[in-house]
Amino acid sequence: MSHDARHPDTIAVSAGRPTEIGDPLSHPIVLASNFRGDEGAYARTHGVATWVGLEDAVGALEGGQATAFATGMAAASACLFALAPRVLVLPTFSYLGVRALVNDLVEQARLQVRFVDITDTAAVVEACDGADVVWIESPTNPTLDVADLDTITAAAHVAGARVVVDSTFATPVCARPLASGADLVMHSGTKFIGGHSDLMIGLVVAADDVLHDRIRHARLVNGATPGALEAFLALRGLRTLPLRMARAQESAAVLTARLADHPAVAEVRHPGWGAMVSFVVHGGAPVADALCQHVRLLVPATSLGGVETTIERRQKYAGDAHVPPGLLRMSVGVEHVEDLWADLDQALAAAAG
Ligand SMILES: Cc1ncc(COP(=O)(O)O)c(C=O)c1O
Repeated sequence: MSHDARHPDTIAVSAGRPTEIGDPLSHPIVLASNFRGDEGAYARTHGVATWVGLEDAVGALEGGQATAFATGMAAASACLFALAPRVLVLPTFSYLGVRALVNDLVEQARLQVRFVDITDTAAVVEACDGADVVWIESPTNPTLDVADLDTITAAAHVAGARVVVDSTFATPVCARPLASGADLVMHSGTKFIGGHSDLMIGLVVAADDVLHDRIRHARLVNGATPGALEAFLALRGLRTLPLRMARAQESAAVLTARLADHPAVAEVRHPGWGAMVSFVVHGGAPVADALCQHVRLLVPATSLGGVETTIERRQKYAGDAHVPPGLLRMSVGVEHVEDLWADLDQALAAAAG
């Protein structure tokens, strides 16, 4: 794919549209499994126009060729299926669903895993030796660790390993991992790309034709295709992703600074960009749980990336038992920042009191 030098704001609005005179501005929702003709056109094997619009737009934003999947987990599974690593490097702190998938593959003796602290670049570089795939998540869920993508991808390639980046928390607005040398970038489009907590979808963007073909093949044989309505909504959401991210990032920075000054807060984690903020409250799990019960505007909910601000204590899940008990992961939405702060401030006072 040729490099689109325009700003992400412009690409998000204009990519993935029909171009013929008389075409609608957006690809319609093509609800079809079967297509007339003798060329074997079938939705799972040949795709439908609604997915193609989304794939073209995400591919243009990331600088590669995109394939849409039923969910983010289907996208992650396709990456592992396509690359079939025997030895995988994986961050200790990363999305619990991906770690559960990898754990199953380890139990089935299909691969070995080397866990790393993704912020310890020297340790990650060392772990690349003899690895087939380095799986990066950046920022990580829920600890918001950021990886040195350039150094790790360069070292991985010298060692002969492929690099996959789960860029769900960064979004194509804050990071372009393919430009840092990654081979595949994946998203849970369920989150910021869709942006309205009303769909599930996944995306994988490949850096070259060979990998793109392998990812397409993975979708074809595993059958993890997206729905047409979901693809339509995800592209509609993507149109405003840069706008939503600009607002959310501005608010996330304000909330980070105020949380850092709050006596009830022990630690704040924020990469300095992006819409995710994690913070640890004094008093651990009971205080964090109480805070989630006292919020009125913020929504206590497990998913993220929507226009509404959501908050959750993550250590309650067995898969995240290793994160600090009092860590709250917050996905900042597009409400007015002063309303968000007023709610957080009263909930912190009620929980700590
Ligand atoms: C970083 C990350 N990757 C992948 C996924 C999986 O995405 P989905 O729920 O769309 O399958 C999630 C879901 O929370 C996530 O946070």
